[in-house]
Amino acid sequence: MHHFMLLALVALASINPVYGVTSNTSIPGVPQYVLDYVWLHSQEIYMPSDIQQQLDNTIPKVNWTSIEGVKSPLDLSNLDTLNSLGNTSVYLTSHDGIEASPQPAWFRGITPDKDGRLGNGTGSAIIIAERGNGTVDAFYFYFYAFNKGDKVLKMEFGDHIGDWEHNMIRFKNGKPDAIWYSQHSSGQAFTYHAVEKKGKRPYAFSGNGTHANYATSGQHDHAIPGINLPVGFVMDYTDRGRVWDPVVNAYFYTYDAKTAAFGAINSKDPVAWLNFNGKWGDDQPPGEPEIFGEAKNVAGPNGPKFKGLGRKLICPSKPCIVLPFRIWSGNSTS
Ligand SMILES: *[C@@H]1O[C@H](CO)[C@@H](O)[C@H](O)[C@H]1NC(C)=O
Ligand SMILES: *[C@@H]1O[C@H](CO)[C@@H](O)[C@H](O)[C@H]1NC(C)=O
Ligand SMILES: *[C@@H]1O[C@H](CO)[C@@H](O)[C@H](O)[C@H]1NC(C)=O
Ligand SMILES: *[C@@H]1O[C@H](CO)[C@@H](O)[C@H](O)[C@H]1NC(C)=O
Ligand SMILES: *[C@@H]1O[C@H](CO)[C@@H](O)[C@H](O)[C@H]1NC(C)=O
Ligand SMILES: *[C@@H]1O[C@H](CO)[C@@H](O)[C@H](O)[C@H]1NC(C)=O
Repeated sequence: MHHFMLLALVALASINPVYGVTSNTSIPGVPQYVLDYVWLHSQEIYMPSDIQQQLDNTIPKVNWTSIEGVKSPLDLSNLDTLNSLGNTSVYLTSHDGIEASPQPAWFRGITPDKDGRLGNGTGSAIIIAERGNGTVDAFYFYFYAFNKGDKVLKMEFGDHIGDWEHNMIRFKNGKPDAIWYSQHSSGQAFTYHAVEKKGKRPYAFSGNGTHANYATSGQHDHAIPGINLPVGFVMDYTDRGRVWDPVVNAYFYTYDAKTAAFGAINSKDPVAWLNFNGKWGDDQPPGEPEIFGEAKNVAGPNGPKFKGLGRKLICPSKPCIVLPFRIWSGNSTS
């Protein structure tokens, strides 16, 4: 994922917390939070996408075979019914195929307007997990219909349909403390103080095509997960192309790590899809050639519930280094 995102955070301690939706509005019952912006790359083609639309453009398959008993219409309020029809083996499989040429328009999502809005689409989900003892994690999940892989030695690797990326901001006693940027199978953590912000809202820079999230614009080698070198073998590119404000059109949830239960903060947003155990795109095509275990077309990802929502550290796994300043940030382009 390559895009430039600006995450804006506003933490206001409050006895009756209110989750901020935009700087001007709030939702009763949740703390007022930091909001975020995403900088999409100036040459990005694969924009953020409406989550429901992925269901409209795919059919669930197991081993490339349609399954019986699927609800019609399939929507974000019943998607979890697929768990009993194949569980993690279910792939939301495109009608078009990953190699469709020309590519269908829906692969390209919705281009944010000049205010960073995603039109009438909902391309993000904000999930608030209370940890107790004054710690609250706010996850910002971004959805893209298509992930364009990076090129290595002029060969392309890692295209997939469906793409979930995220930032997580950890609050301690009502104040933003640290932020996680997801990058491919890993990511990077920084103190809140260290990252670039517009007001209180941190920026995330989204990799061109891959949508991996970085704290800086420039180029980023990700051959070694979590280590962001300015030059190298497998490169992500970020710049200040176009701002996406993922908070304006978003679903808002709570997550209880003890019960693994999600709840809609406004009690209206669809919840069932968060419990879906399958994948958000096609499986890797049968017979797809692999070089050193890497293929051009790979399987789609699973959803937010598999991204470490119950994590203890700011990172989903160890080692977890929270950098107090931005280093290995690539060639800054501004
Ligand atoms: C918030 O309010 C300010 C000042 O009234 C206004 O300029 C801005 O457009 C508003 N933002 C949103 C997202 O409504
Ligand atoms: C960004 O991606 C598009 C296609 O996905 C490609 O045409 C363009 O060259 C890429 N730009 C950079 C700087 O990688
Ligand atoms: C998937 O389908 C293929 C072709 O029908 C079959 O040969 C294979 O055994 C199936 N795999 C599984 C895991 O069911
Ligand atoms: C379905 O997948 C989930 C997630 O991996 C797993 O926890 C659960 O045990 C699986 N259910 C069955 C019936 O295999
Ligand atoms: C948004 O509006 C367009 C044009 O009216 C329509 O084609 C599209 O289906 C709508 N998308 C969603 C997610 O409602
Ligand atoms: C809660 O926070 C306090 C003060 O930072 C600390 O001393 C205590 O160990 C924490 N308790 C738990 C269960 O994390």
